[in-house]
Amino acid sequence: MGYVLDLHRPVAGDVIDLILADHRLFEELLRALRDASSDRDQVRAALAAVLVAHAEAEEKYVYPKLRKRDAVGEEEAEHGEEEHAEGHEALLKVLELKGTGTKAFSDAVEELSGTINHHLAEEELTILNPARDEVGPQVRAELGRQFLAERQRQIEADCGHIDNVRRLVERAKKEGQLD
Ligand SMILES: [Fe+2]
Ligand SMILES: [Fe+2]
Repeated sequence: MGYVLDLHRPVAGDVIDLILADHRLFEELLRALRDASSDRDQVRAALAAVLVAHAEAEEKYVYPKLRKRDAVGEEEAEHGEEEHAEGHEALLKVLELKGTGTKAFSDAVEELSGTINHHLAEEELTILNPARDEVGPQVRAELGRQFLAERQRQIEADCGHIDNVRRLVERAKKEGQLD
């Protein structure tokens, strides 16, 4: 039996723990995507759904709340959004390729792995660390509920569909988040 997909759908928790659990899930899915013995078509669809849902939920609820609480600066939040846009652009390249056994696919997956890993490290260091210090457990629990509700809404709306990812990349280009 191959890789079993589980999108992890908890319903409550501390927003920092929930975000970190998603980051581990992305690493797991990227590893499966690099593995030629996986069902790569299925893995890329699952990765697209959780990546987009997670980024949208962070931008709608987590970043604004942390900004409001002065836990993170405007620069960190904006930089985080730019990296989400870069992630979506790299994801789009992976989704656009027909075959999954080609050199082009390997190259696209390598680029996606690099882009995502870079963002996870930076977000954990510059956004989650200050959030842990500056925001209390009650707010983090409330943020956890909002984060999960939006994540779930996004997944149900098929946010990882190539058309939606393309739309997000176009929007980011218009807003100057991508070169
Ligand atoms: Fe994140
Ligand atoms: Fe993020």
